[in-house]
Amino acid sequence: MKGEMLDVAQASLLEKPQRHQPGRSRRLARSIIATVILAALLVALNSSSWTGLVHFPSRSLGRVQKCSIDNFKRDLAFLDRAKPIEAQEFIQRRDRLAQALAKNGVDAFVLEPGYTFQYYGNISQTDWEPWEPEERPFLMLILPLVSSDGSVSARTAFLAPHFEEGRVRMLGIPSRDDAELDIVIWEEHWNPYETLLQSRLFEGKAQPTLMADEEMRDYIVRGLDGNGFKTVGLSPEAELVRQTKSAAEVELLRAVNTGTVAAVRAMRPCLVSGLTEDEVTSILDNTLLSIGFGLFFNIVLFEEHGALPHGGFVTGGKKLTQDSMVVIDVGAHYLGYSSDICRSFLIDPVDGLRLSSKDPRRAEKEKVWQIVLDAQTAAAEAMKPNNTAASVDIAARSIIEDAGYGYGFTHRLGHGIGIKAHESPYLNKWNTGAKLSPGMTFTNEPGIYLEGKFGVRHEDIYLVREDGEAELLTGQRAKGLYEP
Ligand SMILES: *[C@@H]1O[C@H](CO)[C@@H](O)[C@H](O)[C@H]1NC(C)=O
Ligand SMILES: *[C@@H]1O[C@H](CO)[C@@H](O)[C@H](O)[C@H]1NC(C)=O
Repeated sequence: MKGEMLDVAQASLLEKPQRHQPGRSRRLARSIIATVILAALLVALNSSSWTGLVHFPSRSLGRVQKCSIDNFKRDLAFLDRAKPIEAQEFIQRRDRLAQALAKNGVDAFVLEPGYTFQYYGNISQTDWEPWEPEERPFLMLILPLVSSDGSVSARTAFLAPHFEEGRVRMLGIPSRDDAELDIVIWEEHWNPYETLLQSRLFEGKAQPTLMADEEMRDYIVRGLDGNGFKTVGLSPEAELVRQTKSAAEVELLRAVNTGTVAAVRAMRPCLVSGLTEDEVTSILDNTLLSIGFGLFFNIVLFEEHGALPHGGFVTGGKKLTQDSMVVIDVGAHYLGYSSDICRSFLIDPVDGLRLSSKDPRRAEKEKVWQIVLDAQTAAAEAMKPNNTAASVDIAARSIIEDAGYGYGFTHRLGHGIGIKAHESPYLNKWNTGAKLSPGMTFTNEPGIYLEGKFGVRHEDIYLVREDGEAELLTGQRAKGLYEP
């Protein structure tokens, strides 16, 4: 760059006396044109979000991969405030649940290994893999214990086959003390439900009421119902325990979701025409893995494939071009918490000139992109305590309908998110019964899908706050087609 400019300066000094030399003038003209193009490129660079990021156009997968990981690792500050959930918090969760059960007049909450078990007992999927839903019931029970002053705390117990008792103790479920790990055992030739009913847990209760977790298998619920228990479904009070995120959970959600958006943003300037959807999926997977995030799901769709909100059997092999609308919906895991974000963007054109596209759909892409963003803004503004789940969906839907694209917004606006990517409450226009309350976290993901053309979706995570405005947990919203 510097050498080029020096050339021009020297050339113009010498210009007059050498005017008669035509070859020299052509070189001078070429030199000036090159300088102008470089200056234009610099302007384009300065006005973009990827200033400071490595721009590395190359069709070599290895180089694209390295570029993406290098960009991503440049700033990992989003991890700083995320800490594993402490033992005390698991105990508090069970106490809060016990208080809800006391309010509901329920004798115990009952659950099988799964996400709810992870929430209350810190037993993750890999921890319980050996317990993979099999025919022998292994249950966790949380019972309300009312003390003389009326305060309610949790008593936690398990129902396990006798030969597995040692393994249950080794799971290391956070407890007040060892005595709290109360295990009711059954022999293989006994009826496990009868054993539970006659155990010390339900002494003096004729027909105890059990609240069955939503992940419980039907045959176990039937077994309990058929052997002297009365089972009921989740109450709003019990659901609210998990729906209301603690400060530590909010920081974990912020870290994993901000990090997942940052990964997409870091990868984008490295992408080049010719890469397939499957190749971009694996580049993004490796980028997430490079900082210890766990893979969860990753949907990469180009152009008309993006009009299928979750992709389909035909997607994976389409090749990227400078004009492809890229839709990436991706979730990762970090310290037990989930991300779920989506970005819609274009890659950088080889000539660096973002406005010179000859794509006949370019104008509509820009328009639809902005409508979806405006819908997301409207939904974020509606995410306030006491508003209904329906009202948030309607806020976004009205913007899209008013713009004439109502037919293209084919799914609900969003859902709760925590250790599980999809949690209640669900933001759809029918859900007028559920109200938002402080501490709830939601995806906000409007989209427009134009069959045979392209799709656009923007997805960010928000925290409902006591004091009005919902808080963004994804770091930075999308800003433009080249700034996802
Ligand atoms: C929860 O489980 C994880 C994974 O097994 C473990 O690393 C962590 O120490 C556990 N937390 C507590 C508080 O026991
Ligand atoms: C929401 O409603 C509850 C119960 O009606 C009320 O106590 C609370 O102040 C309301 N919160 C806001 C932010 O309006």
